[in-house]
Amino acid sequence: MPYKVLVIPGDGIGPEVVEAAMYVVNAAAAKFGVELEVKTAEAGDAALRKYGVAMPPETLKLADAADVIFKGPIGESAYDVTSLIRMRYTLYANIRPVKDLPGVPAVKPIDCVFVRENVEDVYVGAEYKVGDVAIALKVITGQGTRRVARVARRYAEARKRRVTIVHKANVLRVVDGFFRDVALEELRGLEVDQMYVDAAAMELVRNPSRFDVVLTTNQYGDILTDLAAQVAGGIGLAPSGNIGDNKAMFEPVHGAAFDIAGKGVANPIATILSAAMMFEWLGRRDAAEAIRAAVEKSIEAGYKTPDIGGKYSTKEVGKYIASIL
Ligand code: IPM
Ligand code: MN
Repeated sequence: MPYKVLVIPGDGIGPEVVEAAMYVVNAAAAKFGVELEVKTAEAGDAALRKYGVAMPPETLKLADAADVIFKGPIGESAYDVTSLIRMRYTLYANIRPVKDLPGVPAVKPIDCVFVRENVEDVYVGAEYKVGDVAIALKVITGQGTRRVARVARRYAEARKRRVTIVHKANVLRVVDGFFRDVALEELRGLEVDQMYVDAAAMELVRNPSRFDVVLTTNQYGDILTDLAAQVAGGIGLAPSGNIGDNKAMFEPVHGAAFDIAGKGVANPIATILSAAMMFEWLGRRDAAEAIRAAVEKSIEAGYKTPDIGGKYSTKEVGKYIASIL
């Protein structure tokens, strides 16, 4: 049975980086004998203009039927599409590995994995305005914290058995205190430390190699992973996987970058490394490792987009990586 993959190219640079990544996906699938049934669907700003909804019902139907979703960045309607997919399929763990690549100047060496809770916190969308007062609810549940902490445990067990829990329980005593307490309980037996999110932001710049697995809530994870990606050499290299118990969605961490869209200069590596994570999730570590190795080789060979000091186009980089797989 082939795996059903739904591709959502997205907005801005999305279609370009996804096209480049699909050369690599198809080459890896052919080489490693992974049967994929690929469908493509619209979602995002362009869909909103065309159909009046950012996530058209046809796309939802295809997403329901898919095993895995491979998505480019989305513009103004990113929350409507991305969060909808995360919530609808309970993709409760957002895995964001951050590692500098040979040949790309990094601020400092870094090699860690963020495990970001992905469906709770202020992202539940419970906001209210009453006269001169605006309120957002921050929701943390025991179940939500336990299941994401178990994912952090699995990553830690495959790495150095070390987890840093990032929170702000000195201020959000009840809510973040609950997250910390439940996480500590779930991570028993591992080497666990904790850090306030403000201090973690500082440490990520000052001494990033002190981090291995980082477990944190949705909003802190959102902010810190952009920061960490820049420490590693740039947001154009940062992949992610949104993981649930039965379905997953893979996407670059970066946004639609309308300012450089259509110019062929966007870096496809974040999306290509997200494809590697997809193969790994499908149980094909061989294909995943081959893609990662090909990405490193392409950089060594100088096949780089301008953001990391090269002169090649999005398409050329994608085609080259596919060709050396
Ligand atoms: C991300 C994005 C999304 C988020 C937005 C687009 C809803 O920034 O995946 O990090 O905040 O989670
Ligand atoms: Mn973000």
